[in-house]
Amino acid sequence: MALRRRFHIRTYGCQMNVHDSQKVAALLTRAGYRAAEDPEQADLLIVNTCSIREKAEHRLYTDLGRLREWKERRAGRVLGVAGCVAQQEGDAILRRFAAVDFVYGTHNLRLVPALAAAAEQGERSLRIEESRSLERFDLPQHHPDLPSETPGRAFVTAMEGCDMFCTFCVVPNTRGREISRPAAGIAAEVESLAAAGVREITLLGQTVNAYGRHDVRRGRAPKAGTESFAALLRRLARVPGIERIRYTSPHPSFFDDELVRAHGELEVLCPHVHLPAQSGSDAVLARMRRPYSAAAYRALCERLRAARPDVALTTDLIVGFPGESDADFAATLALMSDVGFVDAYTFKYSPRPGTPAAGLDSPVEPAVAQARLEELQRLQRSLTLDAHRRRVGSETEVLVEGESRRGAGQASGRDPYHRVVNVAAEAETAGLRSPAARRARLAAPGDVVRVRVVDATPHSLIGEPVSPPRRLAEFGLKNTAIRADEEKWSALL
Ligand code: SAH
Ligand code: SF4
Ligand code: F3S
Repeated sequence: MALRRRFHIRTYGCQMNVHDSQKVAALLTRAGYRAAEDPEQADLLIVNTCSIREKAEHRLYTDLGRLREWKERRAGRVLGVAGCVAQQEGDAILRRFAAVDFVYGTHNLRLVPALAAAAEQGERSLRIEESRSLERFDLPQHHPDLPSETPGRAFVTAMEGCDMFCTFCVVPNTRGREISRPAAGIAAEVESLAAAGVREITLLGQTVNAYGRHDVRRGRAPKAGTESFAALLRRLARVPGIERIRYTSPHPSFFDDELVRAHGELEVLCPHVHLPAQSGSDAVLARMRRPYSAAAYRALCERLRAARPDVALTTDLIVGFPGESDADFAATLALMSDVGFVDAYTFKYSPRPGTPAAGLDSPVEPAVAQARLEELQRLQRSLTLDAHRRRVGSETEVLVEGESRRGAGQASGRDPYHRVVNVAAEAETAGLRSPAARRARLAAPGDVVRVRVVDATPHSLIGEPVSPPRRLAEFGLKNTAIRADEEKWSALL
């Protein structure tokens, strides 16, 4: 029998890109490829790219320089480029880089096995057509022969694309128009994931809480099969086995009362909302085309806290947007400390080709933008440490993801507030003499451990177990639920 060809996917960017890579891995596995952990073992290598900031896009060009050598080291190797840079630059990538065999865009994942096969015959191809078809939601998301990289957790696509057109952002160009997936398909996927041992799902969408808005507004929900985002959450909260529901990223403008209420009502909905603010200045928000004021954003945070007093709020903020004055920046600092974010992703504005902000006057001096970024990060570090210190003495549950960065066999994972919690291993195994007993007691990925928080750092909490890990008898996606889905997909593809 001929050796099965092996693939490796290198992924940059957001969770949507990570999940796209998972879908492509499932498609390639169905087509007879085997996954390779090390690119050196791979015959097919795909770089799944991000273009949100210049630095992200630049990574592709650095990679492609090296990958030419990777390709030359063995005959018959194939190189593909995917994702947001592929969608945007398409043909230019093929023209500039002779080593690249195929380029496919964000709406063309299902073509990958065919493109790879054509490349093996020496054909170069480009497929970046946009599509309005719901078919993309029928792609297999998982394959029984692929081990789960995130035991106990899974991403689930709720909607794709973005119609907001913030003036700084490439996403509306790279992901196309908003499209929501029928709720029945989402629920069916969540049910089979739960049956396969998944406890935590993260619903994905560029503006995930805009889910269904086009249909709901037009009153044609039954036909398109969507519903309001809060109704979707209520539906998924009823799926047996699902203990945690997260979603990312919501947009402040689509946070209606029904969704705020859901945070008070649904126990499995995690008490964490990542709510990108971008700026605390109304003038900057207007130029960014973010359709809310800083006061409205603050009020939304208050409404969320009223519904769920312990909710952890995190955000994204941009400094150095064209025309940002000292006073504008001070307003962003004020928003940060007034809301008391538990964490924040902070970015220096990066002009992106084809976006309206790239043509705006009054750029902020790079040194000024850098100083603002550092000041914002200093403030956030102290807020994060304060928030973590307030947790000392409380109990929480950790869904273990792996070993902590500090190593030493210490389990690490996240709690419902999305905080990283390192489980103190010494305490966990205290009193257990034999190494075998200690190993058996150590939490493994996918386990849930109840801990008492005993210490806090700016990056994580330290927890001591208060009971042994809850362990699933058998975990993995290699089970009947996913096998059954495989048959359904076979008919579709
Ligand atoms: N859909 C999400 C954001 C996705 S992009 C939302 O609307 O909230 C993730 C973050 O990258 C954004 O929230 C923004 O803070 C940042 N970002 C996007 N474009 C950027 C740019 N041109 N320069 C700097 N940061 C940017
Ligand atoms: Fe980009 Fe704005 Fe859409 Fe978010 S809402 S993806 S920042 S255009
Ligand atoms: Fe990057 Fe595209 Fe996501 S630009 S952040 S990979 S939607």
